[in-house]
Amino acid sequence: MPRKIIITTDPGQDEAAAILLILGSPEEFDVLGVVAVAGNVRLDRTLRNARQILELAGRSDIPVFAGCERPMQRALVTAEHVHGPEGLDGPALPLPTMPVQARHGVNFIIDTLRAEAVGSVTITSLSPLTTLATALVQAPDIAGRIGEIVMMAGAYFEGGNITPRAEFNVFVDPQAADVVLRCGAKMTILPLDVTHQMRSTPRRLAALEALGNRCGAALAAMLRFSEDFDMKKYRWEGAPLHGPCVPAFMLRPGLFQGRDVHVAIETGSELTMGMSVVDWWRITGEPANVHYVRDGDADGYYALLTERVGRLP
Ligand code: RIB
Repeated sequence: MPRKIIITTDPGQDEAAAILLILGSPEEFDVLGVVAVAGNVRLDRTLRNARQILELAGRSDIPVFAGCERPMQRALVTAEHVHGPEGLDGPALPLPTMPVQARHGVNFIIDTLRAEAVGSVTITSLSPLTTLATALVQAPDIAGRIGEIVMMAGAYFEGGNITPRAEFNVFVDPQAADVVLRCGAKMTILPLDVTHQMRSTPRRLAALEALGNRCGAALAAMLRFSEDFDMKKYRWEGAPLHGPCVPAFMLRPGLFQGRDVHVAIETGSELTMGMSVVDWWRITGEPANVHYVRDGDADGYYALLTERVGRLP
């Protein structure tokens, strides 16, 4: 039975990779809806980008909703320096023709969780957590109805990427991340500690291009664009590929290793704002609220991504 999921996303080339991995796995995922949110670029662009990705994969049947266009308290921080002015720079994709749903993404999340069986829906978070947190604040009852939240967020051993101590998805809206981590739902974090091990080397990008389909070619072009910033910054053999770690964990948890620990978010100090404080050695005695993933099998990850993208048009 496919797993029912709601995707929140701010595409972004790596989010596109995650969405394509999901769409290449219809036996495992039933996508109830995609909620585009502000993050890598502004909401008007992530709304366009999300629909371009769905149409690229031939899935304009999946409803797209507009989520929150700014964080709960702080001003929006975007990442055009990584993703380009349009957020999905690289390939020339046609403008989308599928509509944006009239219902707000917050209401879609609340309505869906209340309508579906308790525990049957997974929130697949590839973005800042503003929209999910807003839904939790507006409708606290949904926390007990969420099956699991699996999110790309946070960093501890690896340090931050947008500040020395904060990962981008958490830094954009630390207050939202704090609300989500305190909500009591079962949750798994795929942080920079593991996503930085997943590096898109030339061989791995060539394998996507060699698929011979439009999705493989477009994804390779996206990643060749977005790798530039990280390759100059880290000087690794490939840029880290963050987003697909979320669906890959859901598909093949055996590719990853982590532990259940307590994680809290810094929301007071500007110096460490958005830091994910991970009690890895269980020093505080605080009960675990997160399954925190620290390691992964990069070869297995890219083999899965490439095989599933190969199933698409
Ligand atoms: O910190 C990495 C995450 O933030 C990635 O999803 C990237 O696209 C940015 O949104």
